[in-house]
Amino acid sequence: MKAGDGSAGAKRRAAEAAAEAVEDGTVVGLGTGSTTAYAIEAIGRAVADGLDVRGVATSRQSAALARDAGIPVTTLSAVEGIDLAIDGADQVANGDLIKGGGAAHTREKLIDAAADRFLVVVDDSKLADRLDWPVPVAVLPDAEGVVADRIRELGGEPTLRPAERKDGPVVTDDGHLVLDCDFGELDDPAGLAAQLSAIPGVVEHGLFVGLADATYVGRDDGVDVIE
Ligand code: 5RP
Repeated sequence: MKAGDGSAGAKRRAAEAAAEAVEDGTVVGLGTGSTTAYAIEAIGRAVADGLDVRGVATSRQSAALARDAGIPVTTLSAVEGIDLAIDGADQVANGDLIKGGGAAHTREKLIDAAADRFLVVVDDSKLADRLDWPVPVAVLPDAEGVVADRIRELGGEPTLRPAERKDGPVVTDDGHLVLDCDFGELDDPAGLAAQLSAIPGVVEHGLFVGLADATYVGRDDGVDVIE
């Protein structure tokens, strides 16, 4: 499930502006999705021009893009820390995010939260006054039914995310299923995040509350940076 359908130009502008924040000799967290892909390409061009960075990918997709772009790829366990992470989002409101449109939010949260600085890159179609996009929840396969029951008790409507060009559900890079959980407009994202995290069988949810340091918003005529 993907939110927003902003222009490729707006995505590219946001991503390329954020990529300029990558400094020599650093470790960069590489997010997942069509907007972050532009940042990976831009970092790759900088590497070709002599920038020394190592990338930690949040998905098979971003690892493959990074390798294609010429960025040396390493793993979280092989580095002492992550200096900067750049990642997309499905919806942004008041600096909080819903992520997981690409079912990569488990590794994305791990790496984005580990970074000293986390930059979000979106086009302006992703901005909202309040979060209301269905929250992706990654679950252990055997826990799908019990987690869905608990989500309903919390007032959400869970839908098992179906795969495309494969019968059955989406299976994440790490072997989890994804429930897209519609809670309507979120009055208390932090409270819901805590409730979701407390459900046994939930691996990770796509509410990123208070994690972003800055949001780069691409528009048709430029980029706004919201700190
Ligand atoms: C993947 C994500 C993506 O960052 C999110 O879906 C945004 O993707 P895009 O830039 O293609 O709109 O959270 O799990």
